[in-house]
Amino acid sequence: MKRVETIAEVRAQVRAWKAEGLRVGFVPTMGNLHVGHLKLVEAAREHCDRTVASIFVNPTQFGPGEDYESYPRTLDADLRQLEQKSTDLVFAPPVEEMYPGGEPRTWVNVEGLDQYLCGASRPGHFRGVATVVTKLFNIVAPDLAAFGEKDYQQLAIIRRMVRDLCMPVEILGVPTERESDGLAVSSRNGYLSESERSLAPELYHHLLQARDAIQAGERNYPELCRTMSRALEERGFTVDYFDVVNAETLAPAGPDDRQLVIAAAAWLGKPRLIDNMALEIVGA
Ligand code: PAJ
Repeated sequence: MKRVETIAEVRAQVRAWKAEGLRVGFVPTMGNLHVGHLKLVEAAREHCDRTVASIFVNPTQFGPGEDYESYPRTLDADLRQLEQKSTDLVFAPPVEEMYPGGEPRTWVNVEGLDQYLCGASRPGHFRGVATVVTKLFNIVAPDLAAFGEKDYQQLAIIRRMVRDLCMPVEILGVPTERESDGLAVSSRNGYLSESERSLAPELYHHLLQARDAIQAGERNYPELCRTMSRALEERGFTVDYFDVVNAETLAPAGPDDRQLVIAAAAWLGKPRLIDNMALEIVGA
């Protein structure tokens, strides 16, 4: 496995692979890798001949007061894990390599999709994500890039961006990796105290309950979401949102929508946990 810090080195390596006719897969990350990230690497490897991973804690997607400074940086351990998964190239640039002039003047805004869910409570977050992913795509020029379904809104925004801007990249969505009790694996789970950790799977359990209710015929989504939010609050969560949305537009779902996502975000002590579940309504 080769590790590089400059854009020029990534481009030289990818150019050489492409000259050999090899297909290149890409997994962008912010590091502090866990089994969820490694699933993306495995998925990219299955579809491609060579795999590139990036490790970059992207300042432009963190809002004021968010955890940019304290975000866990564990490069050596990350490199060991990527090596074990036979990653071919790791791009771990310093911040000046990605943003040489400081804040960029050019931003990628995927309008509309960022007004719901996490976008509503994290203004500017998805602009930062779309911008850095565009830069990374321009640097790596992958044939395919893998993203986790855990960050459903991010995946939907990237898919839309690629379509709108004719980016020649296939986007692969990878199912959420969970702990044995159902909690979605996340770098931020490390912020949970022991008692919070045992409560945390409740978020997932309430998504399951909501899914079961919808499958049993419930169509009053606002009421269902209020009930789920109240139940989570009673258990000690501070709910940011619990919504049933249209899987493509991310707008609140109506009774006629068929492809749905139930998405939730809630603070439990320090971390804000997010999770979601897709479902399709078949029949009436
Ligand atoms: P990060 O939070 O490091 O996540 C990197 C990728 O791992 C994302 O595609 C995310 O959805 C996926 N992922 C995280 N937890 C997962 C889990 N439990 N199961 C499956 N996939 C999981 O998302 C980002 O970084 C950044 O916004 C980034 C896209 C790198 C842009 O800076």
